[in-house]
Amino acid sequence: MEIVICKDKAEASRKAADMIAKLVKEKPECVLGLATGSTPVEMYSCLADDVKAGKISFKGVKSWNLDEYYGLPATHDQSYRYFMNANLFDKIDIDKANTHVLNGLAEDWRKECADYESQIKDAGGIDLQVLGIGSDGHIAFNEPGSSLASRTRMVYLTPQTIQDNARFFDKASDVPTSALSMGVGTICEAKKVILLAFGANKADAVQGMVEGGMSQYCTASALQAHNDAWVFCDEEAASKLKLKDFYAWRSEIEMKG
Ligand code: PGA
Repeated sequence: MEIVICKDKAEASRKAADMIAKLVKEKPECVLGLATGSTPVEMYSCLADDVKAGKISFKGVKSWNLDEYYGLPATHDQSYRYFMNANLFDKIDIDKANTHVLNGLAEDWRKECADYESQIKDAGGIDLQVLGIGSDGHIAFNEPGSSLASRTRMVYLTPQTIQDNARFFDKASDVPTSALSMGVGTICEAKKVILLAFGANKADAVQGMVEGGMSQYCTASALQAHNDAWVFCDEEAASKLKLKDFYAWRSEIEMKG
């Protein structure tokens, strides 16, 4: 796991966007795994700037998103489909037919999840997966206690996540209590992973992910076993890392290569 500690969110977002842009240039028909949440918004706007400037094109790119609230229609302004359209897809030249988000209204959610896994496999697997991290160390909606071998399925949100996400809804009781989510096992099959983490409220989760034991209580820790995982964080999110200086030195060398 490479830990890239940046002076702020703007620098980290630009560096992460550059890594995605490089892949899109090298492999115009690549498969991206995408994430929602406040964390990747600035990185998405860097990518939109690149498209506008004619530096990259998403015309051949396909995407699969990590998760979707269960029970919210795609038209709901807090659904993850709505978020992706507003924060990225409407701002770039991707063909929306090539963008995939789990259907939060699927009655047969088992079929929905199994089909999603098959679609990803048929597309050749995810070349690059974007991730945020929850304050409890979750990736996608794989809450503490999720198996590190889990696949796309129905999951329940913890009170901590409901509280964290309540800021986007009128009140906490409006936050859905379940979701459809790629599993930790699904995510770890991506060829490359970029995880973004900003702010002091992510410091414990980042420390657990990088320096704690690999455990289902911090599902992001599964990335320790991934051979091409990159963490882009700001100083605050990195503040509790015991080997912070070492990671900073090492990643500077790795980023050049
Ligand atoms: P956030 O959520 O980007 O809104 O902090 C991250 C997550 O829960 O994965």
